[in-house]
Amino acid sequence: MNAKQAAGYKAAEWVQEGMLVGLGTGSTAYYVIERIGQRVAEGLKIRAIATSKASEELAEKYRIPLIKAADVSKLDLAIDGADEVDPALALIKGGGGALLREKLVAINSDKFIVIADPGKLVPHLGAFKLPIEIVPFCYEWTLVQLKSRYDIEFQMRTLDGGLYVTDNGNYIVDASFGVIKDPGALDAELKQLTGVVDHGLFVNIADVVVIGHEDGTTETME
Ligand code: A5P
Repeated sequence: MNAKQAAGYKAAEWVQEGMLVGLGTGSTAYYVIERIGQRVAEGLKIRAIATSKASEELAEKYRIPLIKAADVSKLDLAIDGADEVDPALALIKGGGGALLREKLVAINSDKFIVIADPGKLVPHLGAFKLPIEIVPFCYEWTLVQLKSRYDIEFQMRTLDGGLYVTDNGNYIVDASFGVIKDPGALDAELKQLTGVVDHGLFVNIADVVVIGHEDGTTETME
C-alpha cells in the first residue's frame, strides 16, 4: 500500500450499487479504477464514464461497463486526482492533460471526490504550473493575449518533439503563476479569453478530498 493507493481505495468505498460514476485520470485515479474493477468482478453493478482515453482503456481492462454522456443526464459520483489542493478545496488539475474532460465530468456529478497524497496539499495554489487548454487555430495570438495580461512565464506543452495535443484535439499552455491569490477571479478571467477552452483551476467544485498516507491510513477534508 502506498499513499496514492490508500486514497484511491478509500474513495472507491463511496461507490454504491447502481451508481453512475466518473473515472478520473492519473496515477492516483489509477487505484480507484483498479479497486472499482475488483468490486465489479465481485458483482458490483455500476456504469462509468472515463475522463481520458487512458482511463477508458484501464476501465475496459477491468471490465467496468462504460456509458456515453448521451445515455444519462448526470452522474452520481466522480473521483479524480489533483496536482494541488488548497485549504478551501480549490484545485489545480491537468498535469496529465485531461483537465477539460475532468471538469466536465466533475461539474456534472452530484458529488466530486478528490484523491491525493499529502504532497498535493498547499497553502496557496500556483507553484504547480497552471495548464490552460487552447484551440490550435491562431494559438500564437492566444499566447500573445495571455502574455499581455499576465507578466509571467508561459510554456507550450510539448511531447515527442511536437506540441502536446489533448484528447479533444487542443493544445496546452502551462502558466507559472507562482502564487494565485484569488483562484475564483483568475478562473473567471481566463474563461473569458477567446481561444481559451478551459483551464486547470477547479474552484468550488470539490466536495471531499481524501488524503492517503504511506502507512495506508487516510483522512478526509470537507
Ligand atoms: C490529469 O489531467 C490530472 O488532472 C490528474 O488528475 C492530476 O494531474 C493528478 O495526477 P496524479 O494522480 O498522477 O498525480
